[in-house]
Parts: sequence; structure tokens; C-alpha cells
Amino acid sequence: MEKFVINGGKQLNGKVRISGAKNAAVAILPAVLLTDETCIIENLPEISDVGAILRVIRELGADVRYINKDTVEINCKNVNTHIVTKQMAENMRASSYFLGALLGRMNKARVAPPGGCDFGVRPIDQHIKGFEALGAKMSFESGMVDGKAFALQGASIYLDVVSVGATVNIMLAAVKAQGLTVIENAAKEPHIVDLANFLNSMGANIMGAGTGVIKIRGVESLHGTTYSIIPDQIEAGTYMTAVVATGGNVVIDNVIPKHLESISAKLKEIGAVIEEDDESLRVIMNNRPSKCNVKTMPHPGFPTDMQPQIATLLTVANGTSIVTEGVWDNRFRYVEQLTLMGADIQVDGKSAIITGVEKLKASPVKAVDLRAGAAMIIAGLMADGITEVEDIIYIDRGYENVVEKFTALGADIKRVSVIEPETVKLKEA
Ligand code: EPU
Repeated sequence: MEKFVINGGKQLNGKVRISGAKNAAVAILPAVLLTDETCIIENLPEISDVGAILRVIRELGADVRYINKDTVEINCKNVNTHIVTKQMAENMRASSYFLGALLGRMNKARVAPPGGCDFGVRPIDQHIKGFEALGAKMSFESGMVDGKAFALQGASIYLDVVSVGATVNIMLAAVKAQGLTVIENAAKEPHIVDLANFLNSMGANIMGAGTGVIKIRGVESLHGTTYSIIPDQIEAGTYMTAVVATGGNVVIDNVIPKHLESISAKLKEIGAVIEEDDESLRVIMNNRPSKCNVKTMPHPGFPTDMQPQIATLLTVANGTSIVTEGVWDNRFRYVEQLTLMGADIQVDGKSAIITGVEKLKASPVKAVDLRAGAAMIIAGLMADGITEVEDIIYIDRGYENVVEKFTALGADIKRVSVIEPETVKLKEA
């Protein structure tokens, strides 16, 4: 086990390069199962969620080869199973994408249900509704989600809730179905557009990605392609928020500023100066943060995956802020950790009322999930003294070289091994 040890209170300065987007990568990688030709995927982030997806693809029989640190070559011609077991899926949310990809490839799929971060109930009813509309017979047997179809047929599907996962899964299953599929009330996130661009580069016919109505005209077959994944909006937003939290002047490089508009708007309201360039942003902060109300919503609203980070920044704002979660049922589990650091936060249902304090106090805390973990790093960077963040396995799921990147900006953060109690006992004996 490992933890981060952060000696806080230092400003961030310099330049940080943003990696490829996790949530685009975990949708695009299963999509390679839709062709027997070779695909080359560039700008892959080096994170454990990508490693987990690649392991599943390899265990399904694909040939997976890293060409360099962030480029992988995949050929799926030898894939002849449709089963993703619990052991293969580990605890990934994105394991559900193998349902859509395998249904699209071979009209059948048997996949262990998805895990992922715990934000309350995480249903997949909209995914199932989409597959059934396309003609698949879906069932739950022996703890596995099972789908089969004689042939998938295009259909009109209205999503009852805007769901990233259901939109991705329906696109994967429909891209080679016969006829036209229309997804209404589709998710509009940048990673949805990236998946559509990737599939179109394989010969698919997808229109409207990035709007609420996506039209997919099924094609006979898809071919190999070379594709570069978009930069990670949430990784960029996390570094932007960290700079506003600590003060300083940092260039966030390799980003698409348009994807960051809702985050930039809120950080400006909090007092930051943000200068946009074509592929980078400069974030400057010299004052105490001002209070600000934030409500998370599906894209183009403020992203739920930035909620813990911005709430953490607001713990030291001048005044009282209200942060409202509009996507997940329960995404405030990290609040207890911030309270240990002296934050004044009252959670009332889906809102957190945050009364700014002068400073956070360093304290041992835990990463309760991926973005909550990123928030604990920000809290540690803001506090004077030594903050230890445990359970960083969650942070490694989605942030490439987080210690190296923050260190290059002037932070004092180290990854250290934790000696587990059993080991200590053995050594003593
Ligand atoms: N929902 C349903 N039924 C469904 C699917 C979703 O009711 O069949 C509900 C959920 O309970 C939730 C809302 O719809 O209240 C949105 O869920 P969505 O399906 O959009 O989430 P997801 O696809 O499981 C992805 C990201 C999450 C991110 C959400 C929302 C990936 C791999 N995960 O999850 O990212 O929070 O969209 O933007 O793309 C993260 O990166 O830290 C992360 C958790």
C-alpha cells in the first residue's frame, strides 16, 4: 500500500502538460473490438483504469502492444469469446462498455456487472433499455449481465436520464446494426464526441455527437485506424483548481479550452485570472478565493467529476458557498475527511453549505474515491504542515504521474510505502 505525504502551503508555478482523457480512453479501447483490423491509439493516459481495460482486451484474445509510453497497437482478429468475468472486470465502471462492444462485434455478450466509485445507486437500466430496443434479449444470470441477438436492428431510443455510459454503450452496439439508430436525450460530454470521431475514423456513420440527438446509420464493417485521444478535461480542471487553491501562476498545457468553459467560468467567479490560448490556459491567482455557488449538471454544465475539487477550494473562501450535486445521489462522502482538516461544511441532501475558514489544518485523510482523492491532494496543498492521504489507489485510477506533475509546479508531495500492520508484526517477531 502507498500514501501521499504533502507538505502544504506552497504556491504552484510553471507549466503542466495534461494527459489523454480517461473517460474517452475507457470508451475508445473497447470499441477496437468492432474491427479485425489493427487500431493504433495515441495519447493514452498512463493510469490504472486504462491498464485494466487493456488487460481485459488482451484476455479476450486480442494482440495488444505498446509502441511507446502513450501509444498502443491493438488487433482483435483472434478474439472469439464474448465473456468478461468478474476477475477480468475487476472493479471497473467501464467494464459495462464490453457489453456494447461485444454485442456489436458478435451479437452476444456476457459481462460481470460494473463496479467503480461509490456514489450511491449506479443503475444500468438505460443501457439495458437501449440494447433491448436494438433487438437484444437481455437477462441477469449467475451474477452476470447477458445479452444476445440474432441480428441487431437500428431503433429510436429515448434516454430517461442523460447517461454517459448508456450513450456510449448504445453507440457501440448500434454502429454495425442494420438501419438507423437515433439516441434522444443523449449525453453531450467531450468523450462522447471523441468516441464518435474515433468510430467515424473506422468507417462508422455517426452524426450529431455533442448534441442531444445522435444518429447512427449502421455500416457492414469497420476498418483499422490511427487515432489520438483528446486531453482530459477533468485532469486539467483539477490542476486549474489546485492553482486557484494555493495561489500562483501556471500554464495548463495540451487542453481544449472550449471543454473547460464551465470550470473557467466558476474559477473566474472565485477570483482567478484565466488567459486562454489555442491549446493552453494560464491560471493566475493572487487573492483569497471568493465564495461561489456551484451546481453540477451534465455537459455543458459544471462537471460532477470536478465537484469535490471545487468544494475543497471553497472551504477557504471568503463567505458561504453552496455546492449542489445534480448528477449523482451521494457524492459528498469526502466531506467527513475535509472536516478532519477543519473545514466547515454541512451537507443537506444534495447540497453542501460551505462556510469559508481562514486555513485548513494538515491531517491524515483518505481518498474515498477518485475525484475525492484529487480533492484531498488539493486540501493537502492548501494546508500548512504535513497531510497524509491514504487509499491513493483510487487516485492512480485516473491521474497520470500526479506526484511528478505537482512536484514540477513547486509542490512538496511524495509517494511513500505504508508498512501494513501484519508486516510490522512479522518483522517484530
Ligand atoms: N443512470 C441511470 N440509469 C442508467 C445509467 C445512469 O439512472 O442506466 C443515472 C446515474 O445513476 C446517474 C446519472 O444517470 O445519476 C448519470 O450517470 P452516467 O451514466 O452518465 O454515469 P457513468 O456513465 O456511470 C460517467 C463517468 C463518471 C461521471 C459520469 C457523469 C466514465 C467511465 N465515468 O459515469 O466519471 O461522473 O459519467 O458525468 O465515463 C470519474 O471520472 O471520476 C467518474 C466517476
